[in-house]
Amino acid sequence: MKAHIAVLPGDGIGPEVTAEAVRCLNRIAERHGHQFTLTEQPFGGAAIDLTGEPLPPQTLETCLKADAVLLGAIGGPKWSAPEAKVRPEQGLLGLRRALGVYANLRPVKVHPALLGASTLKPEILQDVDLVFVRELTGGIYFGEKRREADSATDVCTYTVGEVERIVRVAARLAQQRRGKLVSIDKSNVLETSRLWRQVTSRVMREEFPAVSLEHMLVDSAAMHLIRRPREFDVLVTENMFGDILTDEASMLAGSLGLLPSASLGDGRRGLYEPIHGSAPDIAGRGIANPYGTLLSVALLLRHSLGLIGESEALDQAVSAAIEAGARTADITAHDPPATTRQAGEAVLSRL
Ligand code: IPM
Ligand code: MN
Repeated sequence: MKAHIAVLPGDGIGPEVTAEAVRCLNRIAERHGHQFTLTEQPFGGAAIDLTGEPLPPQTLETCLKADAVLLGAIGGPKWSAPEAKVRPEQGLLGLRRALGVYANLRPVKVHPALLGASTLKPEILQDVDLVFVRELTGGIYFGEKRREADSATDVCTYTVGEVERIVRVAARLAQQRRGKLVSIDKSNVLETSRLWRQVTSRVMREEFPAVSLEHMLVDSAAMHLIRRPREFDVLVTENMFGDILTDEASMLAGSLGLLPSASLGDGRRGLYEPIHGSAPDIAGRGIANPYGTLLSVALLLRHSLGLIGESEALDQAVSAAIEAGARTADITAHDPPATTRQAGEAVLSRL
């Protein structure tokens, strides 16, 4: 098949991890007779330095024309002063909005060989296999922001339509998995959460009677996530709760560096990125974990290109590389740990 993929390396360790992803995509194209056209564009802080804006028009245009967008990471101390007028993060939020990718899938699976890599007890982690569906283009991230001399305001808004569509994505996913959906909110305090809960109950009752639904308050969910993570199947929640809880959930897998994500809308085009940030503290040293990005490529092959076999082969190659001991510093106690390139190479050689 032919496909156009926009590649946005971004900032910090972004370019290092996307370089491995590009090598993988090229190898898969070669092996399976596909024609992938990869177009790199500046984004985030790197784009601010080049053009003054985090999402330059040409970058956006390339992404809108592409079948899929692969992103490394953005941000860093250079652009994050509270006084800054433009920020890399505005580029990411703008891109998510422009692509209409309202559903952010963040799967969390524990690799048996990494049971010891987490700060949590192995017996709690065994067989954990859950997926977060985070609402990505609404809520407090996108509400009006105001700053006055001695106060500041962020508005949180959700519409019925926004809740309905994300719940449907989560419910369909639950149907294909173990049929269990947990919806997370703060309905004892927030009006948006009361709307969320009512709409979720109705959509599930009317459209997905065979999927079990449990409502959970976000504080309680944060606790149960590390108390009994195995019991979760699909979790759906609003934008900011999802942001926070998925960083927490990454420790179930052993490292933030392992978690991929797919951001999807109504069409096939998606935005794929590891959930980790730009990690300025280790940037440029070639030691970052590329697996979160490579697993994001697997999601890209599956969801945007429909290449299920290729996607599974890549998933298995990452798994086999971890099994064989190709582990970066965040997931091994052994010295010396694998470099980013060595981990990438371990996957390539297994494709
Ligand atoms: C994420 C990140 C972003 C978010 C930031 C960089 C804007 O933390 O993708 O989880 O908060 O959505
Ligand atoms: Mn985050």
